[in-house]
Amino acid sequence: MDYHVKDIGLRGMGKKRIEWAELDMPVLRKVKENFSKKKPLKGTRIAACLHVTTETANLMATLKAGGADVTLCASNPLSTQDDVAASLVKDYGIPVYAIKGEDNKTYYKHLNATLDKKPNITMDDGADLVSLLHTDRKSLAAGIIGSTEETTTGVIRLKSLAANKILKFPVIAVNDASTKHFFDNRYGTGQSTLDGILRATNRLFAGSTFVVCGYGWCGKGVAMRAKGMGANVVVTEIDPLKALEAVMDGFRVMPIADAAGIGDFFCTVTGNLNVIRKEHFVKMKDGALVSNSGHFNVELDLRGLKAASKGKKVVREFVEEYAMKNGRKVCVLGEGRLINLAAAEGHPASVMDMSFANQALAADFLVKNGKKLSNQVYVVPEAIDKEIARLKLAALGMKIDNLTSEQKKYLASWEMGT
Ligand code: ADE
Repeated sequence: MDYHVKDIGLRGMGKKRIEWAELDMPVLRKVKENFSKKKPLKGTRIAACLHVTTETANLMATLKAGGADVTLCASNPLSTQDDVAASLVKDYGIPVYAIKGEDNKTYYKHLNATLDKKPNITMDDGADLVSLLHTDRKSLAAGIIGSTEETTTGVIRLKSLAANKILKFPVIAVNDASTKHFFDNRYGTGQSTLDGILRATNRLFAGSTFVVCGYGWCGKGVAMRAKGMGANVVVTEIDPLKALEAVMDGFRVMPIADAAGIGDFFCTVTGNLNVIRKEHFVKMKDGALVSNSGHFNVELDLRGLKAASKGKKVVREFVEEYAMKNGRKVCVLGEGRLINLAAAEGHPASVMDMSFANQALAADFLVKNGKKLSNQVYVVPEAIDKEIARLKLAALGMKIDNLTSEQKKYLASWEMGT
């Protein structure tokens, strides 16, 4: 089997960690059980471009149990867990092309290697495979039944392709499922981002000023958890509604130009580029710690920072200290790449359980319905979304109420008023 991983000898620990994650993925386990019996993906070639983590490994095993022929590459050069990649190859028989710290050229070589398998379905986290299928690898697009997309940034790119009427196949926006973004983006990003910042710095949040740029689902999660750890949270936003929401959630809201001078920690989660720029870096306090948890490493203007500094040095794993021309120091964590996966292990298994159950069932849906769909971005069918919520609740041992027939009738009527 062809593959490219850092060290196949790392497989032992990788396998143990994959099995540990599986323990907290009851919904995906159920999907895997059904897939093993029914083999709904038999004969389907799936190319996945996802963060190579223990949770992704369990998704890959689920797709394989469903009969798919799966190949995996990394969706970010810094997010691969090399032991997991090794175990996937040796213990699960899945070709993986991913090495933590790979350069841009290798990153794309790996994406192309998964496309060389001529997939029928692609699974993206950031839309890089779909992007290749619309540029360098156009000739393979005709063989694609459909694609799935894991993250907000990817969905934005895909909607742009669809709006320009150039999307070549249907895509399921897994990110937009309620059982995905309400939980993964908020609680997953909230916890794993603080985990990444802590592992990189081992600094105290209590009493600090923590600036969160962006108050989407991810920003909400980061702000909520930073507050929970005792930080004074400041939110920056460009959307008046989200800004108002942040105010009413109890946070101070101000432009980044004002926040720059007061933050001890900064974290961008906007999905946009150059959110913290040179004019902001030069205002920062000595020792400010700056990170990004958005999908791409474009949110921090590192070129601007470089121009405002005399040089930089690595002072700790995942921490680069820039010596500013104004005499202060500014530290960038994880090279400005998503800190939760660069310095920590990404979202915990319990939330990825729902995200990846959506991925697996979206692939099943595409096999059954792909040919009937047009070249648009689709949401995960509500029935799948609700079923995942039901299964998760059951796994958590929670019961809920049912509507009485009187209540159902009331909800369907208009006659009863004041
Ligand atoms: N995105 C964020 N956390 C992740 C994880 N643990 N696995 C895969 N993708 C992720």
